[in-house]
Amino acid sequence: MSRFWSNTVRDISPYIPGEQPKDKKYIKLNTNENPYPPSQKVLDAINKATNYDLRLYPDPEASLLISTLARYYNVADGEVFAGNGSDEILAFCFPAFFNTGDVISFPEITYSFYPVYSDLFGLKYETIPLNEDYTVNIDGFPMNAKGILLANPNAPTGIALELRQIENLLQKHSDKLVIVDEAYVDFGAESAIPLIKDYENLLVVQTFSKSRSLAGLRIGYALGNKDLIEGLNRVKNSFNSYTLDRVAQQAAIAAVNDDKYFKTSCEKIIKTRHTTAQKLVELGFKVLPSKANFLFVSHNKICAKEFFLRLREDGILVRYFQIKGIDNFLRISIGTDEEMNILVHRLKVYVD
Ligand SMILES: Cc1ncc(COP(=O)(O)O)c(C=O)c1O
Repeated sequence: MSRFWSNTVRDISPYIPGEQPKDKKYIKLNTNENPYPPSQKVLDAINKATNYDLRLYPDPEASLLISTLARYYNVADGEVFAGNGSDEILAFCFPAFFNTGDVISFPEITYSFYPVYSDLFGLKYETIPLNEDYTVNIDGFPMNAKGILLANPNAPTGIALELRQIENLLQKHSDKLVIVDEAYVDFGAESAIPLIKDYENLLVVQTFSKSRSLAGLRIGYALGNKDLIEGLNRVKNSFNSYTLDRVAQQAAIAAVNDDKYFKTSCEKIIKTRHTTAQKLVELGFKVLPSKANFLFVSHNKICAKEFFLRLREDGILVRYFQIKGIDNFLRISIGTDEEMNILVHRLKVYVD
């Protein structure tokens, strides 16, 4: 603690990312990274962008990437924003759309960055408990909040809402901004992007970190009506005009253009998720119905923390949250078939 810290910095509990240990080689199933590399076309684009031009600032508007995404999603360029990971875009939403002291709402169990951003930007938040089956209680959002933040699929449960439920939410709360964080949507859920043309209160945020294997480059994007996007640009250009570097912009364009690779790797992950879930059920695990690149599981004989510690000992990292309501669950990212077989084999030894 320094006497120069602001009150906010003194009081805040920062987000704790999943560990990235260096002590030995682990099977990493703890941060929802993609087990497959980026497409060769992306790697080629990165090589090509790594040249003398790196002395020059990148395009502050990321115009080529924006128009590539706009074409891909069949929207106008002005309806797309790009940023340094979806985390940054979510953070920009706070000063862009809310005032200090406003109340926003999100589920009690969700991405744990939301309360941290709320604290950082001086917002209050009201959380709504999940239903007993761990689904989001779509009817529970308060009418008097200024905004709703919703991860779909939700994290860390992996459970997705249907598009018609999102549409009902947008209609019921037409007076407030609904931000749908679709970090995991490509693994089998329905995106709300087609709704942006009809609902000016919808902002959809997505990322290249999971389904496009580019967590290391930090690229996210948002789609919404042009006034919302302009709001995000006003924040960005009051903070750091060059949030996306030259290499990231070129890599992202190549990733969007290589749709075949993207779809094939998502399909592989979905298939592995399905077979892993079946095997875990056979071992007596309760497995929540996931539409993400991870499974959220619990067992009634051995507690989640013990599994977590024993797996770590055995060189397999998964995520364990000491949070009331989910402290007997493990979140297991989907790796390759080989990695998942090793995991299942270890778990079988523990439960037998
Ligand atoms: C629900 C959710 N939203 C957003 C993010 C952030 O992703 P990015 O790497 O684009 O910042 C994550 C990352 O784990 C996430 O789980």
